[in-house]
Amino acid sequence: MRRKIVAGNWKMNLTPSEAKKLIEAFRPQIDSDEVDVVLCVPAIDIVPVVQALEGSTAKIGAENMYYEERGAYTGEISAEMLTDAGVSYVILGHSERRQYFGETDQLVNKKARKAIEAGLTPIICCGETIEQREEGITLRFIQEQIKSAFSQIPSEDAKKCVVAYEPIWAIGTGHVATTKQAQEVCAAIRKNLEELYGAEVSEAIRILYGGSVNVANAAELFEQPDIDGGLVGGASMKPDFTQIVHFH
Ligand code: PGA
Repeated sequence: MRRKIVAGNWKMNLTPSEAKKLIEAFRPQIDSDEVDVVLCVPAIDIVPVVQALEGSTAKIGAENMYYEERGAYTGEISAEMLTDAGVSYVILGHSERRQYFGETDQLVNKKARKAIEAGLTPIICCGETIEQREEGITLRFIQEQIKSAFSQIPSEDAKKCVVAYEPIWAIGTGHVATTKQAQEVCAAIRKNLEELYGAEVSEAIRILYGGSVNVANAAELFEQPDIDGGLVGGASMKPDFTQIVHFH
């Protein structure tokens, strides 16, 4: 049985002091023995959030990283900086990074390989635009994203990765995918992974759904056979998150 993950993605919200306050309000309700709870926070919030979560079962994630180890890359953050600060997960290839910061499948793959090498669990994002869905090319497009993201990643490492399916049209829009749509794509992603690595590995990889997850829809989505939890944006900064964590 794959253990579920409920991950929050704060995006570019919350200053360090706001972050500390929110964690104080959340605790101890975000502790869980049943699911992995991860808070992915802006880089500058990592240290205060790690401190505020001391003794909690919740883990900390970053929202991005760079694949080089160190050097003249002004403004970037390395995998080792993250692990040293107490981070264990990192979101990679979020559609907002692809859209606003020009991240390509190749870049996402380089970052994923480095993250794994450093001992971080990458949460690799994929998802189609509304135009691609309407054109009927969703599954083909996502298959390509998955293939590129996992390029040169051996099976024993692939197993440790997490995939997040986030249809772009559902992110921050309140238009959640139906459970049927979400399950269909997550099942197709598992099939893609099976083609790449075989059934044992594809059955081990956790696939999350993201895009307008809230208290009302979380349980139904997360209970689908190929959906192993969620990546939650807006609702992860509200008291609702404590309920989403205990969705079942
Ligand atoms: P949302 O964001 O829950 O606010 O739609 C999800 C995400 O972008 O990870």
